Amino acid sequence: MAASERPFLLFGTREFSSAAARPTELLTDPNLDNAMSALMSTYSPLPVSFSHGRGAELFDCEGRSFLDGLSGIAVTNLGHAHPRVTAAITEQASSLLHCSNIYQIDLQERVGEALTRRAGMERVFFSNSGAEANEAAIKLARLHAHERGIERPQIVVLEGAFHGRTLATLSATGNERIQKGFGPLVSGFLRAPRNDLHALQALAQKHDDVAALMLEPVQGESGIHPLDLEYLNGAAKLCKEQGWLLIFDEVQSGNGRTGSYFYHQQIDIAPDIVSTAKALGNGMPIGACLARGEAAHTFAPGHHGSTYGGNPLACAAAGAVLQALEEEQLQERAQPLGELIEKSFKETLNHDDAVAQYRRAGLMIGIELQLDCAELVKLALDAGLLINVTAGRTIRLLPPLVMSNEQGHQLGETLAGVVDSWLTNKPSKEGVA
Ligand SMILES: Cc1ncc(COP(=O)(O)O)c(C=O)c1O
Repeated sequence: MAASERPFLLFGTREFSSAAARPTELLTDPNLDNAMSALMSTYSPLPVSFSHGRGAELFDCEGRSFLDGLSGIAVTNLGHAHPRVTAAITEQASSLLHCSNIYQIDLQERVGEALTRRAGMERVFFSNSGAEANEAAIKLARLHAHERGIERPQIVVLEGAFHGRTLATLSATGNERIQKGFGPLVSGFLRAPRNDLHALQALAQKHDDVAALMLEPVQGESGIHPLDLEYLNGAAKLCKEQGWLLIFDEVQSGNGRTGSYFYHQQIDIAPDIVSTAKALGNGMPIGACLARGEAAHTFAPGHHGSTYGGNPLACAAAGAVLQALEEEQLQERAQPLGELIEKSFKETLNHDDAVAQYRRAGLMIGIELQLDCAELVKLALDAGLLINVTAGRTIRLLPPLVMSNEQGHQLGETLAGVVDSWLTNKPSKEGVA
């Protein structure tokens, strides 16, 4: 169906037929139908286009509904069209979208105060994305080291890490596929295997120019790997002894997803710097680099900046998210709902031997199969489920905190059915243990 012929549904409640009532006339301009895509092909999108969402459900342009097991990759933690977020951004949009950080922004200061309190940190810099929050963290660590006389500071990063796609963050990322073709990479990163404290200790002995250790306490893109607690505690102790800053990338694990506002709060480790983004605005682009102690007071005017970072519209969304999480206690859902989804999947799956490992932190769920399974994404879509496969063979689920138990059960059960029928109908099952 051509875009101009599709009914445009807003929040699934009313059908708008006149072009004037539609958010954008471009959607109905027949001159733009069937045009060759003008988009650079950085993605190969699945054959579905959503018109609206509600809670844990998304609806396509033909009105078909899908259960959202992915939250736009850990973004819409409060679900789609959360009334509080919708109201906050609608109200803000009708008064002031943007004014620039060269003026005081009351809302940014208040959201900053609320966020730093929730995180147990002291100060925050607002960005527009996770990669930018990490860029701020990297610059902060380097500046902190320079002020202590380290001329060529290095940052220790881990194998399997994902920190973003800008040049510095892709250099910090531990995935050659993401780095390939973009050399020369940014220097100043030392790589260590994850969960290997001896390797960190060896780096400490060999290098006297290390500024920081940067890691995701729960690696997301590498297939949901919560790092060993013993390792994280040992790493935190080593950082203290060596004077290294400890940077946690909680872009994916933050904002209620694992059961506490940030994951570091449930494991009782206080990093010096935390980066976040994704669910901070529940879909409005906003990121944050938070710091405590000396690191909180390192940046001075002129050191860093962002035109949009923390603008009134983005902060209205982040403020609403913080309030909703607090008042509705939504992060309390992460642990029991994650358990329920995993249990429903396990109880329904017939091919137990196809699973290599279950890994989970709240609603970051990884089911690693014994064989590559990227094709499951399309099969799940055909069954009305939105899921992701990462690192080749790990099914990744990142459902919203507002998903009901019934929907959670449906997600686990339907997914297991999809995996079973895929395995049964596969011409060759080589690779299955
Ligand atoms: C842990 C982590 N860090 C950083 C990023 C980059 O965030 P963004 O895509 O908002 O730049 C991501 C995105 O997936 C992530 O998962």
